Amino acid sequence: MDSQMIDAAVSKAQGRTKAMKDAAMIGDSGYERIEADHYPTPPEYLDCLLQHVNIHQNVWECASGEGNLSLRFHEFGHTVWSSDIIDYGLDERFTLQNFLEAKKLPDPSIRAIVTNPPFEGDLPEEFIRHALKLMKPVKGQVAMFLRNEYDCSKKRMPLFSLPPFHKKIVVTKRPRWIADSKGSPRHNYAWFVWDWRHIAGGGGISFAHPDFAPGPEKA
Ligand SMILES: C[S@@+](CC[C@H](N)C(=O)[O-])C[C@H]1O[C@@H](n2cnc3c(N)ncnc32)[C@H](O)[C@@H]1O
Repeated sequence: MDSQMIDAAVSKAQGRTKAMKDAAMIGDSGYERIEADHYPTPPEYLDCLLQHVNIHQNVWECASGEGNLSLRFHEFGHTVWSSDIIDYGLDERFTLQNFLEAKKLPDPSIRAIVTNPPFEGDLPEEFIRHALKLMKPVKGQVAMFLRNEYDCSKKRMPLFSLPPFHKKIVVTKRPRWIADSKGSPRHNYAWFVWDWRHIAGGGGISFAHPDFAPGPEKA
């Protein structure tokens, strides 16, 4: 990515918002949508994934934002390489990069790519497909936190009806994306997991609630 692109992304992240209401995020409360889709995941939502899937020790959080998922992974004892198109000053393993342009893993030992990708347009699907491409040669895992109905799409059927799709974990508490917002969160979310070691077709389904899924401070 050249410096112009990085400057543009940084200025977006420094608090400018589109002049549009974001019904996608939280009912019709009128919160403006944040550019670059910087909506940090409440960390305990990672617990729902880890309750049901044995995610490999070495993980790449490829759209890490402020590091909510990366830091939670650390608490669970994982080793995490983080990257984002914007530098939020996370840690020494962070790299500044556009994930969709990444040609190799930040470290050859990585066997899982896990993130809550940007929501806009086709970006979630582009993230899934790119992550699957990078994980295929190492028989790794991909886990994405997406709208619960993300798999209800004719166009995306091959992603979910064929290997390596492995599992869906429906999260039974809607995430609040804007911490001090007042309205009820509008959308249900789920973790979708692919695993290149999984060769049988179709995936299983599980359910999890972030307040009850085991986590470091809940132990
Ligand atoms: C919904 S936020 C989630 C942040 C983090 N994954 C979390 O769960 O807290 C999406 C993130 O994607 C980043 N992003 C957007 N486009 C990107 C790209 N092409 N490559 C890497 N990161 C990107 C944004 O800067 C933002 O931090």
